[in-house]
Formats: sequence, C-alpha cells, structure tokens
Amino acid sequence: MALLKVFDPCAICLLCLVLSASELCNGGITGNFLRKEYSPDMPLDSDVFQVPPGYNAPQQIAGFLNHDRGVIISWITPDEPGSDTVLYWSENSKHKNRAEGIFVSYKFFNYTSGYIHHCAIKNLEYNTKYMYEIGIGYTIRRFWFKTPPRTGPAVPYTFGLIGDLGQTHDSNVTLTHYESNPKKGKTVLFLGDLSYSNDYPFHDNTRWDTWGRFLERNAAYQPWIWTAGNHELDFAPQLEETTPFKPYMHRYYVPYASSHSTSPLWYSIKRGSAYLIVLSSYSAYGKSTPQYKWLRDELPKVDRSTTPWLIVLMHCPIYTSNWHHFMEGETMRVV
Ligand SMILES: *[C@@H]1O[C@H](CO)[C@@H](O)[C@H](O)[C@H]1NC(C)=O
Ligand SMILES: *[C@@H]1O[C@H](CO)[C@@H](O)[C@H](O)[C@H]1NC(C)=O
Repeated sequence: MALLKVFDPCAICLLCLVLSASELCNGGITGNFLRKEYSPDMPLDSDVFQVPPGYNAPQQIAGFLNHDRGVIISWITPDEPGSDTVLYWSENSKHKNRAEGIFVSYKFFNYTSGYIHHCAIKNLEYNTKYMYEIGIGYTIRRFWFKTPPRTGPAVPYTFGLIGDLGQTHDSNVTLTHYESNPKKGKTVLFLGDLSYSNDYPFHDNTRWDTWGRFLERNAAYQPWIWTAGNHELDFAPQLEETTPFKPYMHRYYVPYASSHSTSPLWYSIKRGSAYLIVLSSYSAYGKSTPQYKWLRDELPKVDRSTTPWLIVLMHCPIYTSNWHHFMEGETMRVV
C-alpha cells in the first residue's frame, strides 16, 4: 500500500478460496507463509525479465475476463505496432477464429511505451480450452486459456488472491507459491500495487515492462482481475505527470462499461458462484461521487440466488490492525 510494501497487510495474502456451495465455508488458516521484511529486486538480467526472441515479438501477455463468455487479451509489441489480431480456436477444433483489437501507447516523463494491444474476444463456449496466437505477421507466440463455467449458485470455482506483488525475489516466491498450489487457482483476484515502478527514480516505467514480462508466465494463461492501489496512482507533478493512474490504465483493460461504470477503476464481474465488485481506494468515494453512485446502483443487482458469494476488492482495507497504514481506510468505511 504505501511506500514500504514490506509492512503491508497483504504481505501474507496468498490464499485460495474454494467456492463451492456443496462445502461448508471454512476460512481457517490457509497457509503459514510469512513474507520477510525486506527482499531485494530480482536483477534485470534474471530469467523472469527476459525479452522473448524474434522481431517485434509480443511480450507481457495478460488476460482479463470479460463479461459473458469473453476474455480481453493484452500484449505489447516493442518495435512497431504490428497486428492487433488474435487468432483463437477451441482445443477440439482446427478452424482459427479471428478477433481484432486496438493498440494504445503513452509517454511518461522521458519514457515512451511500446505498442500496447488490447483485444476482446466474445461469445466463447463455457468450460473450454482455447489456444490463441498473437504477433501475426512477425513473431507469432501461442498461448491458451480456459473459459469458466456458466455462472450459477452451485458452480465450484477457485480464485487466488494476491496483492502488493512487485518484482523482488519474494515476488517470484509468491507467484511460484500460487502456481504450485494443488487447488489450482483459475483466476487471480489482484488487490492492487502491481509493479512498484513509482518507487524507482523518475517513476522508471521500464519497470512496468519488466513486471509485465515477469507476470506473463501466469497471466497469459489465466485472467487477473485488476484493482488499483496507491502504487498505480503515478501522480508526479515534479515530472509534469499529473494524470493519475496513467500507466496502469493504458496497460490493463477491464470491462468496466459492461457494468455501467464510467471508470476502469471500479466495475463488477460475475464468475462461478461469485459476484465480484472492484473499488478504487484512491479515487473519490464521497456521497456525490461517480464511484459512490455506481456502487449504490450496483449493490441491488447482486442476486444471491445465482451468485451467493459477493466479493468486494479494494486495495485499502476498511478494517485493519496494520500500524503502517493505521486508519487509512477509515474515511471510506465512514462513507
Ligand atoms: C522465479 O521462479 C521460477 C519458478 O519457480 C524459476 O524458474 C525462476 O528461476 C525464478 N527466477 C528468479 C530470478 O528467482
Ligand atoms: C530519463 O531521465 C533520467 C534522468 O535524467 C535518465 O537517467 C534516464 O536514462 C532517462 N531515460 C530515457 C529513456 O531517456
């Protein structure tokens, strides 16, 4: 959450929730992993940061669940825009379908991003494995994802929960810990604080790129549900950068419009037997704000008979015993 991520309450937040209406919910103790107080960054020449070979090879692939049988695939090409196309086909079919995306880029101080592609794929089959290819025209890379089952009250589904990840040795331990969990998380609920690039001199945005490459080994194959934390603000008037959340919002797309939100920083999505609501602790949330009004209209839409679980994600806990962020969530709780 704040500058010293080592003290964050999320430091121990790697647990798997097994959502199943047929089992009693027993929170209990899900792991005994405690993060050390300090972990150094992984060196820039680490395996996890390697640039994929080939001209204009797509990198930093990440998936996001779209509403209703869809996904959003995001990736970055470094040399030129290249193709916005995703080719995809279900495991049991040979016919390649095609979806067209868009690309964006941004500048931050003296950094210029690569070509950031986002492509929504719609109308997929439930519970199906799809292969997909990107980088059409130059260096093609192939990945796969699995679509979730149809939403319903008794649908089992496994979420992982990760926050405050960064790119230290412990970040790699955390990701490996998630990947090796026998419960096999299908979607990560990410609680905010992604790359920590704002902790580097001049908010070094190349650290967004290293982070994206680090994450790809997981995020290319399963969706991550993004929540913005304080490290996503990137508000830096001293660098003449005054648009909050600029790198974050260019790099990660979420389907906010389909939940009638006016901002990618708060939105909802249904998955399995859960209704997920994402809020932004660092955007205005007082009673006259768009976020508050959206939430007020959103909560009545939660139908416990189809989605008995309501999971609300926000970066700053409303209740916390953590002294480092003491009372930081208090004003939101009061609202
Ligand atoms: C990160 O973890 C992966 C998987 O456990 C491992 O293969 C890789 O070598 C690790 N890299 C670093 C820099 O720790
Ligand atoms: C941006 O500016 C900083 C500080 O002057 C410098 O260290 C860095 O190399 C520059 N980066 C680019 C891409 O020019």
